[in-house]
Amino acid sequence: MGKRVRNDNDRGPAPRGGLNMLQSRHHTRVRGRLAALASGLLSLAAVQPALASGDAMPPKEIEWSFEGPLGTFERPALQRGFQVFKEVCASCHSLKYVTFGNLDDEGGPGFTTAEAKALAGEYQKDGLDDSGEIKEIPRTMADTLPDPYANEKAARAANGGALPPDLSVITKAREEGPNYVYSLLTGYSDPPADVEMRAGMNYNPYFTGHQIGMPAPLTPDRVTYADGTPATVEQEAHDVVTFLHWAAEPKLEARKRTGLTVMIYLVLLSVLLYWAKSRIWRDAH
Ligand code: HEC
Repeated sequence: MGKRVRNDNDRGPAPRGGLNMLQSRHHTRVRGRLAALASGLLSLAAVQPALASGDAMPPKEIEWSFEGPLGTFERPALQRGFQVFKEVCASCHSLKYVTFGNLDDEGGPGFTTAEAKALAGEYQKDGLDDSGEIKEIPRTMADTLPDPYANEKAARAANGGALPPDLSVITKAREEGPNYVYSLLTGYSDPPADVEMRAGMNYNPYFTGHQIGMPAPLTPDRVTYADGTPATVEQEAHDVVTFLHWAAEPKLEARKRTGLTVMIYLVLLSVLLYWAKSRIWRDAH
């Protein structure tokens, strides 16, 4: 007996023009859609070169203390970065996921609890007095810095239509985040002669399109550091990016420590297993 050859009859008699016709009509429709999709993609690709002139410049390569398997945050840089954030960036950007209580967290800027409380107390919020009237009360460890604007419309109205994003996770939300934000902050320049600027826009080649609604926020000596560090634009940018990266990844140091511990454990385990295997099989060879 030869092998049984499978043929369409195995499925039983198909009603002519029934299911088969339906299936093939369905296939034609799918093929049609695929073709439409492909031509759509092709036309997108054709538009690309036109955009290329406004493509963002690749960010500067900065050496960060928090990179690499043993990376940690520089405490003084985190504290200076917080100062830059609150004195400069906070007038336009919120930082919704960092409370004053986080400022004394392990792995963070290393403020003492008393310092963090004092920082919170510098700001007010709406509260109630004894008769239930709304009055200003000091912020506490559970609060964040005050939002600069009441709502999105107010934020856009104050910034020529552009919306300053919340900066809690910005270094994670952009490719090469820390390098990118650093480059953006230090990358403002006069527009080249052939570039026509839109109203209220600022020239910055690190931003897609090269025109950004944010005016250059940093200038030399924009802040005065308590530890005497010269406040150049590069230093201010370095510090605020370090701070923002901690805000985006507050457990970075703990994560790297765990990773290292796991690696050491695995190496020791491999040595032990190799030794045990050699002993057990020694007599068999
Ligand atoms: C005068 C208001 C203002 C100040 C001060 C300001 N920004 Fe902005 N920022 C904006 C606006 C507006 C945008 C949105 C720009 C746009 O979309 O064109 C923005 C966007 C950004 C972006 C996002 C860029 C992107 O890729 O979308 C980052 C990062 C940023 N700001 C960081 C900072 C930092 C850090 C500081 C403090 C050193 C700061 N900004 C100070 C108004 C401000």
